Amino acid sequence: MCPPVHYTVSYSINPWMDPTEPVDPALALLQWEDLRDRYRALGHTVEILDPVPGLPDMVFAANGATVVDGRVLGARFANPERTGEAPAHLAWFRGHGFPEVREPAHVNEAEGDFAVTSSWLLAGRGFRSSLSSHPEAQEFFGRPVIGLELIDPRFYHLDTALAVLDEAGDEIMYYPGAFSPGTRAVLARLFPGALLAAAEDAAAFGLNAVSDGLHVLLPHTARGLRAPLRERGFEPVPVDMSELHKAGGSVKCCTLEIRPAHAGVPAPLPQAAPATASISATITATSAASGTATIVPPATVAGIATSATGDPGPAAPEATPVA
Ligand code: ARG
Repeated sequence: MCPPVHYTVSYSINPWMDPTEPVDPALALLQWEDLRDRYRALGHTVEILDPVPGLPDMVFAANGATVVDGRVLGARFANPERTGEAPAHLAWFRGHGFPEVREPAHVNEAEGDFAVTSSWLLAGRGFRSSLSSHPEAQEFFGRPVIGLELIDPRFYHLDTALAVLDEAGDEIMYYPGAFSPGTRAVLARLFPGALLAAAEDAAAFGLNAVSDGLHVLLPHTARGLRAPLRERGFEPVPVDMSELHKAGGSVKCCTLEIRPAHAGVPAPLPQAAPATASISATITATSAASGTATIVPPATVAGIATSATGDPGPAAPEATPVA
């Protein structure tokens, strides 16, 4: 995560951004700190990326890199206003012991458009990430890419329209209206049991959520998603991110998930060094679906990485809705 120290809305690169509408930087920082503290209270480790002056959107850390099996694919931003963020992310990963850090050849806005399930790498396109970034990601991660066409400018990144609820179980939620007819058919075919969000919850950034397989952190204004999430065994954790919404981002955008290397993952590159997990650790949680103890796949939220010592961190409090 990257604190919104230099956060403001001084340009407009998506329909949510109105530079004439005032932003309260102090409130943005409080909301961001609340999100960070909730991750920590739930037992996750949060790594902090230093903010860079002049890069007001850097708070949206999810756009800076995609990390799968400990391999890091950097970002290449579509808009010149954000290009300076990419090197800062690459430098962070190189400085933190990640053996494979790749600067991409093609425009991709990282987890803004890439979502990971155990079977697939879901890859959005239409507004930001380029079509050619899809095969590049598939080759780098060795995971089959499913290309998804976004058609509504309000949902310009995949993570504004779709969230992975349970990586291991290929469980997702999404807003069908954000996708082309063909893509809707693909999603219905691959995820017949998905939770479908209503337009008003999607417009409240309800799909811009982060799940650790049990807890689902999402904007408190996306009220309609809470009951269906509970019915599926998840625990909604509503948070207020209203100041960040003014730039077109919410919970997920502020959160880059670090998925460490783990045993048994085949390396896609024949000459690749054996995967070494510098931050490998697992989060033991109660499975949302079965109610049994499960190892949540090493989801590290930029990071939810549990400490290597196995310290579970502070006891998880009751998730209290903020509204
Ligand atoms: N203002 C930023 C942009 O338009 C918001 C990015 C939100 N991030 C995300 N992962 N959807 O690029």
